[in-house]
Amino acid sequence: MKYILYLFILLLLNCASPKEEVPVSFSIIPQPDSVVTHGGSFELDEQIEIAASSEDAQKVAQFLQEFLTVNEFNSSLLAEADSEGDIFLEISPESNIPKEGYQMVIGDSGVKILASSGAGLFYGIQSFMQIVQTAGNTLPLAEIIDQPRFSYRGMHLDVGRHMFPVDFIKKYIDMMAHFKYNTFHWHLTEDQGWRIEIKQYPKLQEVAAYRNETVVGHASTSTRDSAKYDGKRYGGYYTQEEAKEVVAYATERFITVIPEIELPGHSKAALTAYPDLGCTNGPYETAKTWGVFEDIYCAGKEETFEFLENVFDEVLPLFPSNYVHIGGDEAPKTQWEKCPHCQKRMSEEGLADEHELQSYFVQRMEKYLNNKGKTIIGWDEILEGGLAPNAVVMSWRGEEGGIEAAKQNHDVIMTPVDWCYLDYYQADPKTEPLAIGGMTTVEEVYSYEPIPSQLSTEEAKHILGAQCNLWTEYITTSDYAEYMVYPRAIAMSEVLWSPKGTKNYEGFIDRINDIQPLLDEWDVNYAKHIFKEEE
Ligand code: ACM
Ligand code: ZN
Repeated sequence: MKYILYLFILLLLNCASPKEEVPVSFSIIPQPDSVVTHGGSFELDEQIEIAASSEDAQKVAQFLQEFLTVNEFNSSLLAEADSEGDIFLEISPESNIPKEGYQMVIGDSGVKILASSGAGLFYGIQSFMQIVQTAGNTLPLAEIIDQPRFSYRGMHLDVGRHMFPVDFIKKYIDMMAHFKYNTFHWHLTEDQGWRIEIKQYPKLQEVAAYRNETVVGHASTSTRDSAKYDGKRYGGYYTQEEAKEVVAYATERFITVIPEIELPGHSKAALTAYPDLGCTNGPYETAKTWGVFEDIYCAGKEETFEFLENVFDEVLPLFPSNYVHIGGDEAPKTQWEKCPHCQKRMSEEGLADEHELQSYFVQRMEKYLNNKGKTIIGWDEILEGGLAPNAVVMSWRGEEGGIEAAKQNHDVIMTPVDWCYLDYYQADPKTEPLAIGGMTTVEEVYSYEPIPSQLSTEEAKHILGAQCNLWTEYITTSDYAEYMVYPRAIAMSEVLWSPKGTKNYEGFIDRINDIQPLLDEWDVNYAKHIFKEEE
């Protein structure tokens, strides 16, 4: 009885003095590591002074100033100031804040964002923008401590099947940066078009950058010949100057650009320009339809390696990234099986089959690129025939390639089709524009866990992160690209950034509805399925 009385008193006490919990009254995506709010608020004036601790902090501060201006606040930026101003931004390399992390305090007399790097400060500012968007001028007093779960947070864009203006690529980068992605994987070469200027090979611009026409509607490998075509020449390419412009733009936003030059497959456009690089010497025609093609670079001819090395010699200086993507996926071995050059190479090198020949090809390119200070990334087919010694594997056909690579002590980026392919339908195909197939809803993307349960804690350290991919066979316009990417890529941002175990889909839906006006302000053509009806 005494015990029950004691429990009763405890219960009463608990009810009488609830913890000082004020509901969080702003929304942030991706959800931060920790948010504590207090009673009270800080009022943002019409006139806001932003102080930045250094030149680097000032550069980042400009993004905040621009945002405030668009949102009708007047603000001034104080140079190299101490902790004064309504918003104080500080980069302190000595602080023990993780590299891309930040701490934010909204106090009685102002806001302070502290980071140990420009990237961390930049991410703090992205969070602050969403706070202002969702809380208005009256900011609840709060402390946020934040850092990413994964070091690789990627988005891919295929420009081989369809091309997009440089301004669109910049907008794609803006959105990535806002949702705290840090890597843009630029898929630059394909069967249907070569999209990066290589000065030493003018026919890549004159020939490989164009296809004579494009298939209309769905066409599989077996129906290619009977399919309908639009009769319109299609193509173009990015100049080296444009590539540099994109890289500079991305760098300012703490995004690394990784170029992909596909080998040995998905190379029909290059073979059309330089048929001697194929096993049969052609003639070839830049692909007009989608899928996988048997015409790939000849692995027996020395000219192939000379060409690719020269191409990389022009590509690498444009992209300071440590990584370079060499493709490696979907390379049928049909021609190699019949080609005297390829067969001679196999016997000279003691290779047991054509998979080992592909491995020879990739390893030889890896050696060349390693010597230039680069680490290669390849699609998971590079596991077949033996993995190149230092390669990073991008696991796309499922999680198996990633699991296998991690078990072999190789770093891995997860992009399994079922969660990460944004060319898949996001809702009932009957109600959606034409897409390649599949079905991955926002909720499925959100549910993704990049660390496969089969890995030990040690092996799991090889999972650098994950990436959404946008293949553009059916994505003919910038608007359609955005429709496929958002909000699914926003859901993935939380998979990549927020601490494991904190995801909550209902909460995500509420928060994305709260930040919806930002997407509108930035004129993003996002899909509306998960947004509440407008009043
Ligand atoms: C791929 O989707 N072929 C990597
Ligand atoms: Zn060959």
